[in-house]
Amino acid sequence: MNASHHESPPDMSTRRIGLWLVGAWGNVGTTVAVGLAALQKKLMPTTGLVTELPMFAKAGLPEFSEFIVGGHEVRPNTYYNAAQVLWQNSRMFSPDLLDQVEDVLETFDANVRPGTLVNVGNAINTIARQGGSSQESTTESPLAAIERLTADLVGFKDTLKLDHVIVVNLASTEPASSIPPNDPVLATWKALEEALNSEKPLDLPASSLYAIAAFNSGCTYINFTPSVGSNLPALAELADLRKALHGGRDGKTGETLLKSVLAPMFRARNLEVKSWVGHNILGNADGQILNDPNNKATKVNSKDRLLGEILGYKPQSLVSIEYIESLGDWKTAWDHVHFDGFLGTRMTMQVTWQGCDSALAAPLVIDLARLADREKRAGGSGVMSFLSSFFKSPMGTDLAEFAAQNLVLADWAKKASKS
Ligand SMILES: NC(=O)c1ccc[n+]([C@@H]2O[C@H](COP(=O)([O-])OP(=O)(O)OC[C@H]3O[C@@H](n4cnc5c(N)ncnc54)[C@H](O)[C@@H]3O)[C@@H](O)[C@H]2O)c1
Repeated sequence: MNASHHESPPDMSTRRIGLWLVGAWGNVGTTVAVGLAALQKKLMPTTGLVTELPMFAKAGLPEFSEFIVGGHEVRPNTYYNAAQVLWQNSRMFSPDLLDQVEDVLETFDANVRPGTLVNVGNAINTIARQGGSSQESTTESPLAAIERLTADLVGFKDTLKLDHVIVVNLASTEPASSIPPNDPVLATWKALEEALNSEKPLDLPASSLYAIAAFNSGCTYINFTPSVGSNLPALAELADLRKALHGGRDGKTGETLLKSVLAPMFRARNLEVKSWVGHNILGNADGQILNDPNNKATKVNSKDRLLGEILGYKPQSLVSIEYIESLGDWKTAWDHVHFDGFLGTRMTMQVTWQGCDSALAAPLVIDLARLADREKRAGGSGVMSFLSSFFKSPMGTDLAEFAAQNLVLADWAKKASKS
């Protein structure tokens, strides 16, 4: 983690793209690294990758071999160790596959730097401290953190001569920010910059500090978590100033994906949903963090909001997320939907979803990086609203239905294929 040099994987082509994972050695980060290494060596099929669908065949997306992984972490580890734990607890990736990609994983490890724990809340702090996080990452000022994170990104880009770096936030979900979203200090970059420079600096969440560092170093920023990240008017302004791309928030991988597919069916058939209950149980580190009521509130809010947006009214709803250790990375979601049909006849739909959380999320992270790189090459900047189908709380659009979001993506692919 503190290695002073960066290394690149063996298979390189002319274009070089950095994929910088914040929360590098977490479950999703590890699955991205193992997956990318396996794809680079052509060891695994591309199932689960949206960008491998025929509609992207001529869109000019980058090859897997063009990516080099780096990142920020707050708990020392290695990709190989983190992947072994995933195998032991959740039976993901066989030890045989891991042995075949170990050399590439080591080159990725060499690009991981200590992240920051400024304004992440108690739950993340505790887990990071138990995991051996460094003193520096907990005591620095927000401004010092931005400077350090920016220098890491510039170092990665310059040393490896990268054409484009995409920062993806895969860190633990933060608690709700202590700053009200409508606080004037968040309205403009000038006000926010002044507040960060003042003697008593603003408590801006770490995810937003990473976003500032990304924009200031000319990188793209994508938020795969429900944390604030770049979702502030002041940061949208900064992104525009730096001509940077950004997008988010909160990967749509399981229960919420189902909701955004099924809720439109009830509306299209004029069936009235009376209540929608979703119980989620999971046993990974993400679930452990979400066990804290403050962190859980951020996630529940992100999972719950789209129902009203799709149906046009708000049925009684409940979303629960409980940490059940023995489940490991396997999440079970049980959805119970109570609805009225013709002549007031009340009916019920129940769905049980059992998914491997990281295997659902990781291909989407690789997709997002490929799509963002293509958009960058086309000269794009600002919010990438065409990525809405990937997110629970998509930025830059009100579209909440999965099918409608997918049409926007298909349109983008058509345009990319022509240019
Ligand atoms: N299907 C999915 O897995 C899915 C879907 C949508 C969103 N997400 C979100 O993605 C994130 C990652 O999920 P996960 O299962 O990999 O969780 P995880 O707990 O396994 O990984 C998170 C990693 O982030 C690190 N971290 C925490 N704070 C950090 C900071 N300030 N800077 C740098 N690193 C930090 C932790 O040490 C940990 O290694 C979570 O926020 C989760 O809610 C996951």
